[in-house]
Amino acid sequence: MSKTEQNLKDAFAGESQANRKYLAYSKKAEQEGFKQAARLFRAAAAAETIHAHNHLRELGVVKSTRENLMDAVNGESFEFQKMYPQMIADAQVEGKQGALRSFNFANEVEKVHAALYQKALDTLGRNMDTDYYVCSVCGYTAEGHAPDECPVCKARKQAFMKAE
Ligand code: FE2
Ligand code: FE2
Ligand code: FE2
Repeated sequence: MSKTEQNLKDAFAGESQANRKYLAYSKKAEQEGFKQAARLFRAAAAAETIHAHNHLRELGVVKSTRENLMDAVNGESFEFQKMYPQMIADAQVEGKQGALRSFNFANEVEKVHAALYQKALDTLGRNMDTDYYVCSVCGYTAEGHAPDECPVCKARKQAFMKAE
């Protein structure tokens, strides 16, 4: 890998993290009543997304939708088969309850994501018109309609938001 390719990867990771961090900061600023700071955080977050996407384009990561779905299945599968189980074990050893909960939520939901991506891959090109709903507590992703109770975190239906 060339130095520049590694730099693009590092910069993509950094810009992506800055985007999510600024959105979290924006939410906090709203809660604290600082509307202007909240707006600036959102604007910068949008700009970091553009930087991240520019870097990603130069890396050639985005391919055809069929290939992208396969990549998504593989990425989600790695997370619930290897990455999160190890992180969960580490958190148990270290007694980090908050991290354990956070990893468990993600671990359970990545299984669902892998299945949903696989289904999308299997049905690609067919005329589907299904909505998705996301649990605002754990990220559980439901197809069709929001469940009365989240199967991962037990949050109620009202905790679900419809994905655009
Ligand atoms: Fe940036
Ligand atoms: Fe996922
Ligand atoms: Fe949930």
